[in-house]
Amino acid sequence: MAMKIIKLFLISIVIFSLTSLTITATASDPSYYDFKEQPQKPLQALDDLYKSILYETLDRARETVRMLDDLYKTFIVLITAEYVDDPSILPAATLSKRVFEAMNKKGWHKARLLDATGTPFNPDNNPRDKFEREAIKAMLSGSTYFEKIEKIEGKDHLRAATSVHAVMQGCISCHPDRKFGDLLGAISYSIPLED
Ligand code: HEC
Repeated sequence: MAMKIIKLFLISIVIFSLTSLTITATASDPSYYDFKEQPQKPLQALDDLYKSILYETLDRARETVRMLDDLYKTFIVLITAEYVDDPSILPAATLSKRVFEAMNKKGWHKARLLDATGTPFNPDNNPRDKFEREAIKAMLSGSTYFEKIEKIEGKDHLRAATSVHAVMQGCISCHPDRKFGDLLGAISYSIPLED
């Protein structure tokens, strides 16, 4: 019984000293007073912090789009130049669509090849939603890049589209209604901005 009382007494001392330590630490922290006196300040600071995190994520997503765009367009041009300018052979467009699908399945980004001519090889490449239609409209009036932040399944995403032109004569052998330099379509990307 006596041991129990001593134990209880010791535990109370430990709890008491821990609580008073915490109180001293909080009270001596100057931001504690700032918060009481100016409740707007920390909220503003949190807001700024949130914005800076969002901008950082957005910058990183834009950089990812630039990197992917260079990668995809480089291999589309290389495949066309080195292997495929015969309409009967698997074109770079079809191959890149398979790569987009594989990247999506592996949980990376979503990408789509879009038509801007109104007469696509494959109707699957017609713009499907508002973003894709607006992107193609912007490209037809001369833009080479179009972006928006949109919620997809409740999460913010950067949606970006870059124009695709007949950058080499090889493109014309399969897209004969067009001439060198014409706008043929776009690649559209969706990059998540939240986990
Ligand atoms: C070997 C023939 C061939 C060559 C060469 C070729 N394409 Fe295509 N292109 C196609 C086919 C076929 C499709 C449809 C692919 C699909 O959706 O499966 C297509 C689709 C596209 C699309 C999507 C719109 C649509 O018509 O469906 C764009 C944009 C495009 N190609 C751009 C290019 C560019 C740029 C080049 C040159 C770098 C090029 N293509 C060279 C055959 C070719």
